[in-house]
Parts: sequence; structure tokens; C-alpha cells
Amino acid sequence: MTSEGESEDEGEGARGPWWRDAVCYEIHPRSFADSDGDGIGDLPGATDRLPYVRDLGVDAVWLTPFYPSPLADAGYDIADHTDVAPDLGTLADFDAFAARAHALGLKVLVDLVPNHTSDAHSWFREALAAPAGSAARDRYLFRPGRGVRGEEPPNDWRSAFGGPAWTRTGDGEWYMHLHAPEQPDLDWHHPEVVADFERILRFWLDHGVDGFRVDVAHALFKHPALPDAGPGQHEDPARNHLMPYYDREELHPLYRSWHTLLADHPAGPPGAAPPGERLLVAEAAVFDPARLARYVRPDEMGQSFNFAFLECPWQPAAIRAVVEESVAAMTAVGAPVTWVLSSHDAVRPVTRYGGGPAGARRARAAALLMLALPGTAYVYQGEELGLPQVELADDRLRDPVWRRSGGTERGRDGCRVPLPWEGGQPPYGFSSAAPTDCWFPQPEGWAGLTADAERGDPASTLELYRAALRLRRSGSPRAVADGGALRLLSPPGASYLAFDRGDGLVCAVNFGPDPLPLSDAFETTEVVLASGPSTDGGRLPADTAVWLRR
Ligand code: GLC
Repeated sequence: MTSEGESEDEGEGARGPWWRDAVCYEIHPRSFADSDGDGIGDLPGATDRLPYVRDLGVDAVWLTPFYPSPLADAGYDIADHTDVAPDLGTLADFDAFAARAHALGLKVLVDLVPNHTSDAHSWFREALAAPAGSAARDRYLFRPGRGVRGEEPPNDWRSAFGGPAWTRTGDGEWYMHLHAPEQPDLDWHHPEVVADFERILRFWLDHGVDGFRVDVAHALFKHPALPDAGPGQHEDPARNHLMPYYDREELHPLYRSWHTLLADHPAGPPGAAPPGERLLVAEAAVFDPARLARYVRPDEMGQSFNFAFLECPWQPAAIRAVVEESVAAMTAVGAPVTWVLSSHDAVRPVTRYGGGPAGARRARAAALLMLALPGTAYVYQGEELGLPQVELADDRLRDPVWRRSGGTERGRDGCRVPLPWEGGQPPYGFSSAAPTDCWFPQPEGWAGLTADAERGDPASTLELYRAALRLRRSGSPRAVADGGALRLLSPPGASYLAFDRGDGLVCAVNFGPDPLPLSDAFETTEVVLASGPSTDGGRLPADTAVWLRR
């Protein structure tokens, strides 16, 4: 099942390249750790905190964009893809970050954002300064409007952030943006666009990165005729692949070329993954598992985020279906399955799963579920502390979704509140700035959720993650790369989900409401790790997960 993919990868050990069963920790730098007291997290601050990440027991870090940006979309609007935003540091600070990560045994992934640039990018400025119809506009998607005077957008496409996907310029032409107007989409049929991203990939490989998370990987190519997409756009993600701006065939030759580039580009600085062990991760909002698997065929990317898992409600039947479909689709192409519960774009699991004590219990159970599943996992900063979503005041919201939805959708800022490191009051060691001067204000009441408070407390979420990751990494049960041996033990329709990964480790999650007798279900009660305080005399309480050895 995996032999095809494995035989084509170079430089791997017996278990495949490092990323086949890795756990990657997502750092959103502005909210992670501030070293210079301006209230904004930065690269030196992140470097200082890398030992914490290493001690958590993960294998890699992924940095969300730290490039120069006017911050119309938290840095996903990039003005210069090969530099560092001045408020986050310098290129030398990035090099120091990568070197420190490598010295600690951590791989480094960075974000590649190829679908669009910032409107402050030199190409877009040049395009706006040039007259309608000029070549300088061809790197983007400029078009005349419809209607008698061109006053209607060129088609009916909608922005993923709300509103039309077109903005009119002063001279009457329109340009396309699948996100905010400050994020004009590039035209990937233009050879200079292709060439520039090859330059960008090589630049960061030379700076020691071990891989790239490819932003909006499903949208780079648009249908050349730009036809109308019809009603209901972005309303049913399961239909994404049918949109004329998503999931087009032209993407795959491009990703094959990037695969080759990563495999062939000379070795970076000492400590960086050698050619053949570098990783491309697709952020592809494609929900048909078989379509998603096409991004991770052996000669394309290595992994694709599993949004179906992240978005799945806390229901055994739904989660069971996602697990089965994900494993089947990915193993069919020899790719590891990825599992993810949170990111800088998603409502924190504690809140998403119901909030309060129940949400917290479920998030802990979900963590043990995720970390038992075969393949790779992504952990977003603060997930390991069990942080809830924060309700920010209207005037502190930065997400373009807030503005573009006319104030009806609050957007994603509530999961981007700075990490609490220590102490009893905001800013909890995040910064020396006044709490109100921080990138986002932190709430009162997080004293018990700081890294410092949770470290060493066996009941804490931090220690649960550390125990699970320790077992995964070096102990028994260790990480399992391939999903082929996974065997579901719970019958369809049961109020619990249980599986044997194929190596004798059983993970059981009880969704409740009744306690689940472990001995009857699995002929064992040898608990390796539990997400809840007690297994109640061999009975697993509701909203609790357990790892068992058979
Ligand atoms: C991805 C990012 C998200 C960003 C969008 C546009 O989905 O994760 O934060 O807003 O791309 O770049």
C-alpha cells in the first residue's frame, strides 16, 4: 500500500522520511512570544521559547507568515516573499531561529503563499500604475467589467471572506481577489509568476527550511474563461472542487515541478533536511477525500491538511466516517494521513466542542484520539494548554472577515490571542508591554492556563500532550506511519469509537452519555494513558479517551 510512495522517496530510514509520522507545532509569531516589548510576538521571542516546543515532544515547527506585510490578513498579504517583517525581526533572526530549531532536533516549515500577494507588492503597485490592458497587469487577473459602462464585476465570483471577488480600480478595470481586496490573486498562467515562486522556494531552502506549507493550494489556477460560478459559493465546502476557481487540473503539474525542485535543490545550511527529505504540505480546502489525495500522489506534495477531521462535530458516527475515508484515500496513494484539531483559522477545540468543562474534556479526548491515529498531526500553539476561544471587543478585531461580513461574522481573531506563559495577570509573560498594547489583549482568568502553571501538573492539558507525545516519539506505543493496518473495533452506530492501530495499541473514545465498560469491549483494561481523571473501575466515563494495550 505504501511501497510505491516509499520507494520513490530518497534519504529515508526504515520508517520513511521524518514527516510520515511527525507532529508539527504551528507558531503564529505575532501571538507567540515578544522579545522587545512592543506587544507583538517576534522571531527572537520564538527562538527563546523553542526549548518549550522541544520539551513538548513535537518533531517540527511551522511558522505562519513572518514576511513584510501591511497586515490586511494577519500577514497572509505578503509584500515581499523573501524578507522578514521589521516588527518580527531580520533575516539574520530567521537564520538564528532555524539554526536553534535544528540544534534542538526540530524541523522548520514556513508558509508559502502563492495564490495572491499584498496590494503593496511591487508587482501590484506596478500593475496599478500601468494603464488598463498593459503587460504589467498580466501577472494578476485584471478584466474589464460587465454592464454598459463596465460597472458590474467581470463575473459572479465571491470572496471567501464575503463580498464580491472583484474590486474596481480608478481607471475602471477590475482585479480579482478570492480573499480580501488587499490580496490580489496572481495569474498562474504567467511564466514570471511560476519563475518567481521557484526563486522564493530556493531562497528559503538556502535559509535552511525543511519544508513549506502551501497556502490555498487548491486555488492557484482559475478557469481561463472565468465563467460564472453560480449560487451557493463557499456555502457547501463539499462542492468546492466544482467551483471554476478551485481544484483545477493545472495545479498538479505545478506541484510535481515543486516536488522535483525540492528534491534537486542543493543541501541548505548544516542541520537542514537534505534533498529528498523536504516536505510540501497542501492547505487544500478540498473535501472529497479522493480529490484531496491527488495532491499527495508520490510525485506531488507529501501531506495535505485534513480539514474534514478539524471540522467534524463531536459525534462518533461522523468522526468514524472521517477516519475511515481519510485513511482509505491517503493510503491508496501511499501518503500519510494528517490529523489536525486547531489552527490560526479555526475556533479553539475547547470552545468548538461545547465550551466549559464538557468542551475541555472533549478537547482532551480529541487530542488522544488525534495522537493515536496513524500518520501525522498538527498542533496549534495554545492547543496544548487547553486555551478556549477569546471573545474580543469589536474595536480589537483585525480579521477582514469581520469587516467584509458587515460585522455579522467575528472572524478568526479569537484563536490568535497571545500565548500565556507565566504569572497571574495579562500579559502573562508574553511581552513586557502593557496588556492593552499587545497585539490582541489576553483575558483575565488565564493564570491557571499558563505554560508555567500547567508544567508539572499531571492533571493539566500540557502534561497530557507531553505524555502522549513522549509515548509517540520514543516509547511504546510509538508513532505509526501507515493507516493500512488500522482496525476499527467499535460497531457502526456505537456511542464510542475504538480502533487498534495494528500494533496492539487500542484507542477508545467514549462520546457518552453512559460509561463504557472497557473489559467487555476490548478484553483488556491495561491503560497506558487516559484523557480524564479516572477510568472508574474499568469503565470509561463520557467524553473521555484512553489508550490501552492489548
Ligand atoms: C489560508 C490561511 C488563512 C488566510 C488565507 C488567505 O487559508 O490559513 O489564514 O486568511 O489562506 O491567505
